[in-house]
Amino acid sequence: MNQRRYDAVVQQQVADLAAGVSLDACLVSARAALRELAGYVDAQQLRWPAGAETYARHLLARCPTTQVSLFAVVWRRGQISAVHDHGTWGVVTVVAGTLFEESWTLGAAPPLTSRPPVSLTRGQVASFSNAPTYVHRVTARTDALSLHLYGDRVASYHVFDPATGARTCVDAQPADPPGQS
Ligand SMILES: [Fe+2]
Repeated sequence: MNQRRYDAVVQQQVADLAAGVSLDACLVSARAALRELAGYVDAQQLRWPAGAETYARHLLARCPTTQVSLFAVVWRRGQISAVHDHGTWGVVTVVAGTLFEESWTLGAAPPLTSRPPVSLTRGQVASFSNAPTYVHRVTARTDALSLHLYGDRVASYHVFDPATGARTCVDAQPADPPGQS
């Protein structure tokens, strides 16, 4: 049941984008879809990181041609991402716990411009367009579970030093494949 819903959300985004629906409109529908999906995800079925390990990503569904991808991410309190970009659009919702997001705008010259941080709690949704200037960092304020829909497979991304603007390309941690969460 869950897998069919995960696949349907990915396929709907792929179909809408292929049909020429604007990215803004796609993000609106994706936000609604992730809100609905949050009611389907069973945290007990996901492997949680232990101790000081970084958060764990679980690939729930992916379109093999466009690479539109849906992930569940499980966090232990205090875990933090690097300051990073995605190179594509994305939608995030929190299923359980609280995440804290800091974000920056990448300008022509360093340092990065800071935007007001936001807290995301159960049921809240955030999204970003595919502007290459969007950079963020996420901290888990509590143990947390979140859903992430991206316009790409997110196999690699850039990490940044906000003060200097220095940028490094890194490979993403492998995600657990579908059915092996
Ligand atoms: Fe991110």
